[in-house]
Amino acid sequence: MTPSSVTLVEVGPRDGLQNEAVPVSAAQKIELVHRLQAAGCREIEVTSFVSPKWVPQMADNAEVMAGIVRQPGVRYSVLTPNMKGLEAALASRPDEIVVFGAASEAFSQRNINCSIAESIERFRPVVAAAHAAGVKVRSALSCAVGCPYQGEVSADEVERVVLLFQDIGVDHCGIADTIGVGTPGRVVAAMERALKHFPAAEVSGHFHDTYGQALANIHACLALGVHVFDTSIAGLGGCPYAKGATGNVATEDVVFMLHGMGITTGIDLDALVDAGAYISGVLGRAPVSRAGKALLARRRQAVEVAA
Ligand code: HMG
Ligand code: MG
Repeated sequence: MTPSSVTLVEVGPRDGLQNEAVPVSAAQKIELVHRLQAAGCREIEVTSFVSPKWVPQMADNAEVMAGIVRQPGVRYSVLTPNMKGLEAALASRPDEIVVFGAASEAFSQRNINCSIAESIERFRPVVAAAHAAGVKVRSALSCAVGCPYQGEVSADEVERVVLLFQDIGVDHCGIADTIGVGTPGRVVAAMERALKHFPAAEVSGHFHDTYGQALANIHACLALGVHVFDTSIAGLGGCPYAKGATGNVATEDVVFMLHGMGITTGIDLDALVDAGAYISGVLGRAPVSRAGKALLARRRQAVEVAA
């Protein structure tokens, strides 16, 4: 079942930067997107069209979308929580939008200020309008194994929301471990519920790495035939409404593992490490990515040996 190639959706510019205390300018975000696409990333989640009062870090969404020089073959996606967000997003010509709901009522309330049922009714016209505009719709299902407010989340709760997403016609179902508490058995159980209702090509994993389980979870999902994963450059990320959760699994670490397994990604790891070093420099810290740090150290050693 293990796929020979994997698609990585780079969520660093959105998930990575939405929770950053250090201000990052629109020009720096645009530069990051350019470096990611130059490294071979073909799916990039650029920004979100959410309320700037809720997430001020994404208030420059239209400026960032207008500033990127688009590369043929790259898909640019944005988050849209409601019709207001979709209307603003469409003016920026995304290839794909993301509606985001949760398997836990408490997280739905904290993150998007409504119940699960209300969120689905909000998303219904968003999905229809996006499709009418020829734009693909991805869904993200947060708290698929655990919730910062509710605690454990069952696979039954996940499947209930998978079915609600299917009912409103989303094209893709992303299973998200928002707080990174999932271990392979529990993540596989959640993922299997998505695979019951969506084809493998339209199911993805989005694993925050708070407890260091994300690579193990991706490895377990590969065995199910899942071959699309969200990852974040330099391990950036978090959700303002999931306190204590750290970043997404680092793209560099996932690429290192996949290439080591003989699985192609189309990504140039060296150029990716440069992109990670760039954004980490902007944020004034070292990349969280273990592979990124190791490859940067190896480069420094090679320079010292040559000198
Ligand atoms: P609300 O306050 O309930 O919305 O927020 P409202 O409809 O009552 O509107 C209130 C005000 O917000 C109004 O402005 C609206 O115009 C404005 P006012 O009249 O007060 O001046 N407004 C907007 N402005 C800009 N863009 C919009 C928009 N909508 C309303 N789209 C809302 C509801 C969903 C908007 C709010 O809760 C929100 O923006 N939440 C943001 C949540 C968020 O971005 N979370 C992080 C992303 S999700 C995530 O990270 C998880 C993921 O990575 C997967 C995982 O890891 O689990 C995807
Ligand atoms: Mg996330």
